[in-house]
Formats: sequence, C-alpha cells, structure tokens
Amino acid sequence: MRVNIGQLMKMKQQGEKFSMLTAYDYSTARLVDEAGIPLILVGDSLGMVMLGHDSTIPVTIDEMIHHTKAVSRGTKNALVVGDMPFMTYHTSVEDALRNAGRFLQEGGCQTVKLEGGEAVAEKVRRIVAAGIPVMGHLGYTPQSTHQLGGPKAIGKSTEAAARLLNDARILEEAGAYAVVLELVPAPLAKLVTEKINIPTIGIGAGKDCDGQVQVIHDLLGLFADFVPKHAKQYAKLRDTMLSAFTEYMAEVKAGSFPTDEHSPTMDAGLLDQLK
Ligand code: KIV
Repeated sequence: MRVNIGQLMKMKQQGEKFSMLTAYDYSTARLVDEAGIPLILVGDSLGMVMLGHDSTIPVTIDEMIHHTKAVSRGTKNALVVGDMPFMTYHTSVEDALRNAGRFLQEGGCQTVKLEGGEAVAEKVRRIVAAGIPVMGHLGYTPQSTHQLGGPKAIGKSTEAAARLLNDARILEEAGAYAVVLELVPAPLAKLVTEKINIPTIGIGAGKDCDGQVQVIHDLLGLFADFVPKHAKQYAKLRDTMLSAFTEYMAEVKAGSFPTDEHSPTMDAGLLDQLK
C-alpha cells in the first residue's frame, strides 16, 4: 500500500520521524522504495546533479515530467512528490493548476511541491481544491537564488523569523499537507514544527523537524562539485564508481574482459560450414 498524506500527519502526531530522499530515475527510485523510505521527491535539484546546470532555474516542466514518470514506474510504496519548476506556478492560478495537473496525469506522482509562502498561497489553495496534495517549501528557496543572493540561512533576524513562521501558518491554512524547511536555523525550525499542525521536513534545519530530506547524490557521495554543510555522506559511491571504471578499462586493455562466460556460444560445427 502506498504511503498517503494522512499517514504523514499521523506520524507527526505520534512523534514518529520520517525520511524523504530525492530520486530522478527508475532504478534508483526502485532501491529507495525497496529500502522503505516513505517519501520520494523528484526534485528540481536534478538540474544540477543530473543535467549539469549551476542552478535549478533552467529546469523545464517537460524535463521534470520525464524524470517523474521514471520514478513513478520504479515505486510501489513511497509517496512520490513532483517538484514544480521555476515559472510553472508563478504566472497565474490557471497555469499553476494546469502544470500541477500534468505532474499527476503525465508524471504519475501523487503530490506536487512548490516554493514560497504568502506569495503562492492562492495557488496552493486552488491546486489543493482540485484534489492535488501540495507540499510547501520555505527558508532558502533555490528558485529565488538570485533574489536571495545564493544559498544562505533564512530567518536569522526577528523580522525574517516572524515572516517564515507566518508563511508556514499561511501554507497550512491554504491546505498544504507538509512543508520543507531549507537552511533554517534549528531553533526556528523547532518552533515552526511546534506551531503548525502539518509535518515539517528539514534540510539544513536541525533535528527537530518532523522529517528530513536529502539530495540522493549528496547522501551517496556522488556529486563532487560541492558538498553542502547539511549533507552527510552515507556512502562514497564516487570512489566506488571511479575504481570500477578504471578496473574495467584496464581489463579491456589487458584482454582479460570479456571472458567466455560473458559471451554467447554456438555450435562449432556451424562455423565449419562457413569456411
Ligand atoms: O529539489 C530538491 O531536491 C529540493 C530539496 C532540496 C528539498 O527541493
């Protein structure tokens, strides 16, 4: 049975922490699902870790849907969240609704995520009213990186902290079922978590959020361009992959790969007829 938004709410009420991980392709999503991670985010972070852009801004809705389809095909149990990319929910309520709908109809996911608080509240309300669960995203919002001046903690002044708490309340009131808090000082994230009834999901926001999210390339040690402070490497797959590639290259050069076990056989008598 696939995880649903009601179960996440219950987990918050019971104080049961949960994890979310990004995935962008079928094979990885299958593994994340098999491990029992309840939430998979097809994040627009794929712009950086999969497509090599230097921000999430160039990511298009067609690219997001392409990857969301693959992730959806790889999951049976996890709730799949499609990340609405830059400019797909800003222009009008109608655009936001149409694009959110595409994620479910074409992408096969169950919910969408979008960035912002009060400024997107009406869009959240209307998407939820159409039956599409919405996850919010506050704190450092990567689609506004140029406005914010790059990745940095949000909520360090009284005014900014009050704004963030207010935005979280507004998202809850608009019908969001959860909210990501990115690069939010831990005491503020704790306060927000206590003050709202929907689950908070932290990334660089301390241990007191109801859930945690990580970008899978960071967690696996796959992305060397930079390692954010909030990431913990649970594996060093970059090293594992590099040594597999060099070993393969060396074996091909030496003629020790492939061996007979890697190749199809045929009746040797057949070849005699060709000679
Ligand atoms: O795109 C993404 O991976 C995200 C997470 C950092 C929450 O939005």
